[in-house]
Amino acid sequence: MADKLIIFDTTLRDGEQSPGASMTRDEKVRIARQLERLKVDVIEAGFAASSNGDFEAVQWVANTIKDSTVCSLARANDRDIARAAEALKGAQSARIHTFIATSALHMEKKLRMTPDQVFEQAKQSVRFARNLVADVEFSPEDGYRSDPDFLCRVLEAVIAEGATTINVPDTVGYAVPELYGNFIKSLRERIPNSGKAIWSVHCHNDLGMAVANSLAGVKIGGARQVECTINGLGERAGNCSLEEVVMAVKTRRDYFGLDLGIDTRHILAASRMVSQTTGFVVQPNKAVVGANAFAHASGIHQDGVLKARDTYEIMRAEDVGWSANKIVLGKLSGRNAFKQRLQELGVQLESESEINAAFARFKELADRKAEIFDEDILALVSDESVSQDKELYGFVSLSQHSETGERPHAAVVFTSAGQEVKSESDGNGPVDASLKAIEAHVQSGAEMVLYSVNAISGSTESQGEVTVRLQNSGRVVNGTGSDPDIVVASAKAYLSALNKLQSKADRVAAQG
Ligand code: KIV
Ligand code: ZN
Repeated sequence: MADKLIIFDTTLRDGEQSPGASMTRDEKVRIARQLERLKVDVIEAGFAASSNGDFEAVQWVANTIKDSTVCSLARANDRDIARAAEALKGAQSARIHTFIATSALHMEKKLRMTPDQVFEQAKQSVRFARNLVADVEFSPEDGYRSDPDFLCRVLEAVIAEGATTINVPDTVGYAVPELYGNFIKSLRERIPNSGKAIWSVHCHNDLGMAVANSLAGVKIGGARQVECTINGLGERAGNCSLEEVVMAVKTRRDYFGLDLGIDTRHILAASRMVSQTTGFVVQPNKAVVGANAFAHASGIHQDGVLKARDTYEIMRAEDVGWSANKIVLGKLSGRNAFKQRLQELGVQLESESEINAAFARFKELADRKAEIFDEDILALVSDESVSQDKELYGFVSLSQHSETGERPHAAVVFTSAGQEVKSESDGNGPVDASLKAIEAHVQSGAEMVLYSVNAISGSTESQGEVTVRLQNSGRVVNGTGSDPDIVVASAKAYLSALNKLQSKADRVAAQG
């Protein structure tokens, strides 16, 4: 039997660290469920000690997920580790992931600690964590740029203390495949007790090589765990992309010779869920999950694919969740069909009342739009602007007037702490007027750092999905909204971002 490659997903932790990608507790639980459906081996749900919100998110994921191991990140100190263990109490299978920087640069400039102090703290933290849970992962942050002799000393010691997984991060995305693969190989060869731990790779994508480096860590270095995120989400240029690394190992099993536990048919739904939740749009030519990944535009390619699929296709679109028939529901579809489609898309709503509310929104949309696509359904259930009962601001209605040669004017009705308010403004265009109308009442003072519109299913009949990124007092949040009318979608997105701005507590950054 071939070795198994463990897939450790850190979308909810390292992915979420990307400015503007922060997620609410409920969003994290929804994505964690989809990761479980995907049969991800380990879900890193967050960094419990970073904020009360993240503690709760880890706790909820731990209490919900049954088939994947749930992990929390913790800095190498007793407080963080104890907090992680507490958040993970309800998990069927729990892992604590503790880390400390080991590169000379990070130790001296960031931690202001000597190598001997770092060595002692790493050992003591793993010992402490092992008293709380059986499954402990240790990461030497900036490991790839660390002195190999010092790294060997630290890793040998933490394995002796009981670390079950050793993860070697390329924190700043500096590695190149051959060198990174050989780096892991030489650590494993030099450390006498290396065979007692599973070796893991964690690569950032600053030079666009995160997937290639991770695969080299597996092939050359002998790592048997890859840390990755859906859509490659993550700080700066992101992390190693789960869908790419998984499909590379599956498609080139002849080369890698490794088994995976992943049910790849759920990849696309996971990708869409993460993109719609964070507002980070997937580029059309993105491998595996981009809209063009399986589209054959050129005549020669089309002709070849029609004669024999494998002339140009190395993977089957269905294997990663693309369906041939994209029109799923319409005006006459009933509640059961809607509920079943939600299940197929991997969306689990908490209660019957949530299903009823989503179904009502579906009916409302079906009245305005003849064909409802999977993308519409996902947008509909992830549209935070509709859950007015839980949020400070909620969209009610909008009217706007624009005519060539006249300055557009908008009047927006929305709820603010349960009270309906109407606010009006002029603007450069109808979207600008609508957002200015909301801001005139709310006076958040936030700066808009991104506004983007995406046609959900690719035609003018489709819904517009709008992302608004706001920044205020050093915090960056994304709001998303969707509607067949892009001015309405924009107002919803703006209100959703305002809700996030006022609801999230500040958190400690993992690499801060
Ligand atoms: O990139 C990194 O070094 C990390 C560690 C915290 C594992 O994300
Ligand atoms: Zn990282």
